[in-house]
Amino acid sequence: MKFEKNILCIGAGYVGGPTMAMIAYKCPLYKVTVVDIDSTKIASWNSDSLPIYEPGLDEIVEGARGRNLFFSTEIEKEIKQADIIFVSVNTPTKTFGSGAGMAADLQYWEKTAREIGQYAESPKIIVEKSTLPVRTALAMERILTSNDTRVHFEVLSNPEFLAEGSAINDLENPDRVLIGSRQTEHGLRARDELVEIYANWVPRERIITSDTWSSELSKLVANAFLAQRISSINSISALCEKTDANISEVAKAIGMDSRIGNKFLNSSVGFGGSCFKKDILNLVYLSRNYGLHESADYWESVVRINEYQTKRFVLNMLTSMFNTLVGKKVCLFGFAFKANTGDTRESPAIYIAKRLIEEKAELVVTDPKALKNAKIDLSGNESNVSYIEDPYEAAKGCHAIAVVTEWDLYRSLDYERIYRSMMKPAFIFDGRNILDHERLFEIGFNVFPIGKSKLTHF
Ligand code: NAD
Ligand code: UGA
Repeated sequence: MKFEKNILCIGAGYVGGPTMAMIAYKCPLYKVTVVDIDSTKIASWNSDSLPIYEPGLDEIVEGARGRNLFFSTEIEKEIKQADIIFVSVNTPTKTFGSGAGMAADLQYWEKTAREIGQYAESPKIIVEKSTLPVRTALAMERILTSNDTRVHFEVLSNPEFLAEGSAINDLENPDRVLIGSRQTEHGLRARDELVEIYANWVPRERIITSDTWSSELSKLVANAFLAQRISSINSISALCEKTDANISEVAKAIGMDSRIGNKFLNSSVGFGGSCFKKDILNLVYLSRNYGLHESADYWESVVRINEYQTKRFVLNMLTSMFNTLVGKKVCLFGFAFKANTGDTRESPAIYIAKRLIEEKAELVVTDPKALKNAKIDLSGNESNVSYIEDPYEAAKGCHAIAVVTEWDLYRSLDYERIYRSMMKPAFIFDGRNILDHERLFEIGFNVFPIGKSKLTHF
């Protein structure tokens, strides 16, 4: 079959895989290929057991794979054949040298740019899907054209706004699709071609266009604003605990002001995930680089409050349980950084688990999808941690439960049964405020929510 377009995506991760699966699913006339240097991951994308858990993803992949969706390791061949190349490689925080701990590590991204420059034999539209520092497209253009080829490359910015756990819905019904381009004839033509792809299923008014730098920067700013809301509400949760105010009541009251809005006001153990911290630190680094230290300090405080919130949670566990956790069994309900994903990158659970181990507690970790990753995150601690998928079994004989991930299943467990199986006094620390605290207290638990008065029997 002759396809209308050949689309390639370099990087088959949490973004590349689902995003391309959605394009292929919605546009049967385009051939969509996803490549990666990780052959195990590609084999997994080609199997019945996909490398990531995402509700609804299996159906979308099954619907298009082999028809017009392909996963491959043949990077050179696929670059040659592609008309449009999305780059969706990882851009983690740099861990070495200048900017360590703050700046984005662009080595994977640069390697991709060089490969495209080396292998391309015909004009290509290059789409930045990865989250990148503002003005990266310029560096991309310079690398691509440094080989002295006559091939024309047009670099677009098309940041991804999907959230894990709801990726399929986010891709199918995005609030907006953002495309940044150069305002030249070539740039605008390439932009229109990308608009046409999304217009196959996204209403035109939700596809917005801008210059390249605003598009790149908007992605960092969107994540910074979302994270800032969480840090704001979390900072107030600490005050609520001191004053007998209730964070849920406060969030409701402020969220009903349409100027504030009610989303992203759930107080928690702190935000996790591979991007919020990394992207804010990137913004901080950029601001400092331009000498904007006040702006940098402002955004850095969002990360500091987040760390404070997670630390506060563990400290509260320690002081509430009579200042010692030595030899006590503590069960973590959830390890993923949020519900409906198996991803544990930057999950607050990692810090919490390590601190509890430091206090010489014995840990039991339960999670419906993230135990495999949890074992990797906590490797080296095998003698202090056990992993049990069934929450009833996991809680058995424990002194305390800490709810770390807001999985729905934890809302509807039989807590009387759990209480009976635990050591007494039994403690529950609800790091997500998803449980019925009054009811737990009636059962006999000592209950410690976030941003609300504790309910104790002593
Ligand atoms: P990921 O680590 O899951 O996937 C990246 C993939 O790129 C990996 O499989 C890696 O093997 C591959 N890769 C690296 N170098 C390569 C190369 N030279 N050639 C081929 N493949 C290569 O990362 P992710 O979570 O998908 O994130 C990708 C980008 O998207 C990041 O910039 C991130 O900030 C951004 N983003 C992520 C999310 C999210 O929810 N995870 C959402 C929006 C944006
Ligand atoms: C986030 C953004 O929501 C996406 O738009 C963006 O594309 C993505 O980052 C990215 O660039 O990687 P994600 O991290 O997958 O998506 O998930 P979120 O739903 O944003 O949750 C992030 C963290 O904040 C989780 O740990 C979650 O539990 C926590 N959170 C969220 C709260 O603590 N309170 C809230 O009210 C909302």
